Amino acid sequence: MSASVSTSTGGTERPVARLVRGMPASDGAGVRLTRVIGQPVLPGLDPFLLLDEFRSDNPGDYIAGFPDHPHRGFETVTYLIAGRMRHADNKGHAGLLGPGSVQWMTAGRGIVHSEMPEQENGLLQGFQLWVNLPAARKMTAPRYQEIAATGIPEVVLEGGIRARVIAGSFAGANGPIDAETTAPLYLDLSLPAGSALSVPVPAGHNAFAYVFEGGVEIAGTEVPTSALAVLGAGDRVAIRAAAPARLLAVAGKPIAEPVARYGPFVMNTELEIRQAISDFQSGLF
Ligand code: CO
Repeated sequence: MSASVSTSTGGTERPVARLVRGMPASDGAGVRLTRVIGQPVLPGLDPFLLLDEFRSDNPGDYIAGFPDHPHRGFETVTYLIAGRMRHADNKGHAGLLGPGSVQWMTAGRGIVHSEMPEQENGLLQGFQLWVNLPAARKMTAPRYQEIAATGIPEVVLEGGIRARVIAGSFAGANGPIDAETTAPLYLDLSLPAGSALSVPVPAGHNAFAYVFEGGVEIAGTEVPTSALAVLGAGDRVAIRAAAPARLLAVAGKPIAEPVARYGPFVMNTELEIRQAISDFQSGLF
C-alpha cells in the first residue's frame, strides 16, 4: 500500500491498492491459461468480470481451443500478442485474429461461437477480458468490433516507450473501440529500461495494470511479472521500469448493478440466468 501523492504535473497518482497473482486454470476444451480476474481472490473489478492470459508454445496447451459455446449479457475482448485464432458464430460471422489484433465482441442477448487456434505449433499468446454490460444493454443485438494490428494506433513517447491504444485516449491517440457505457481505456505499454510515464485515467473509473514482461514500479510499489495491480483512487497512474517491461493498463466506468453469473451468462438476477440457460437450450441464441 502507498498513499496517494500529488505530483508536479498535477493530479493525484493512483496507488496500488492490491497485488493479485493469476491462478492456473483450464477452459474451453482444455486450454491451459492463467486466470487473473474471475478467480476466488479477485472475482471481479466492476465492470471487468474476467481476465485470462494464455501463453504457451506447447500446442497441447491450446490446440483443443474453445469449441462452440454461448455468451449472454456482456462483452468479450480478445487481444492477441502472438499466434492466430479463428472464430465463427451461429449468425454466420467468422474471422481470423492475427498478432496484435483485437476483437471486441458484444454478446448482448446471445451468441454461440467457437474460438480456435489456427496454428498447429508455435507461440500462442494473448488475453481475454470480459466487460460487463448494464441491464439496459444486456439484451442488445450482438456486435463485433474487429481491429487488425494496423488499425490500432501506436504512439512512441519520450524514452522510447510505445503505447498501443486499443480503447480510450492516450498521448493524442484515440483507440478504435467504441464501448460507450463503460468508456474503457485499454493500453498495451512497452517500456524500455529506465523509462517512466504517467497515464491519465478518469477519476471515477476502476483500473488495473497487468504486467506480462519484466516488472514495473507503480506509485512506489513493485509490480512483478504475472502480477495484476488493482489501482486505488486518483486520476493518473505513474509507471516506471528499471528493466524492459510490458503491461496492459486497463480502466472502465463501474456499472454498479447486481451481478448474477453462471459460466458464460452474466445477468443481474438468478431469474435472468435461468432464462438464459433455458433460451440457450431451446436454441434461441
Ligand atoms: Co467465447
